[in-house]
Amino acid sequence: MSIIVTAENPSIDPAIQRQVFGALPTGVTAITGLTEDGTPRGFVVGTFQSLSLEPPLVTFCVDKSSSTWPTLRSLGRFTANILSTEQLPVCRALSRKGDEKFAGVDYEQSPLGTPRISGATAWVDCEVLSEVVAGDHYMIVGSIEELVPGEGEALLFRGGKFGEFNQWPAPAPAAAAPAAPAAAGKDQ
Ligand SMILES: Cc1cc2nc3c(=O)[nH]c(=O)nc-3n(C[C@H](O)[C@H](O)[C@H](O)COP(=O)(O)O)c2cc1C
Repeated sequence: MSIIVTAENPSIDPAIQRQVFGALPTGVTAITGLTEDGTPRGFVVGTFQSLSLEPPLVTFCVDKSSSTWPTLRSLGRFTANILSTEQLPVCRALSRKGDEKFAGVDYEQSPLGTPRISGATAWVDCEVLSEVVAGDHYMIVGSIEELVPGEGEALLFRGGKFGEFNQWPAPAPAAAAPAAPAAAGKDQ
């Protein structure tokens, strides 16, 4: 595990940092694992991203206060379930604290032995490769073991609200320029 240490910067107000980054839309991904006694565990992140193609790596950040991450870390593997616009209830369930998060949440076991939540837009099964301690979070790097596209549109989160991507309409074709009036007396 590496540690990033920097001096605190009191000129940066955490409330403004939250406001600025809260305005940046993110996807919504459930990070899940299965304990040795078969209990599913998981939590929701907005920080899941592709990190490298060669080799295939992903990353996400988890708060040091997470009660689930220490378990998934010790298992050494997880599935990143990229949630769909149909899965707001799953998001709400897994972003709560406690042991009852998976009540009513269907999943199948991946070949890696991790829960793939039914109805996700994609499942990314990963081994934990490394972890960096960065301030009040851990930055996790995972190596992709299997990548399975699902169905549906990704759920988005911005400014404390959930939504979906709406493409801008294609620009209307430019109106034809009016014909220039013939110069008086020309060709007469
Ligand atoms: C849309 C959304 C995005 C979130 N993103 C993160 C994140 O990137 N990292 C994190 O640690 N918590 C994030 N959370 C909060 C966790 O899901 C929440 O604290 C959860 O209860 C942690 O559960 P645990 O303590 O069982 O690990 C997010 C929650 C929501 C609803």
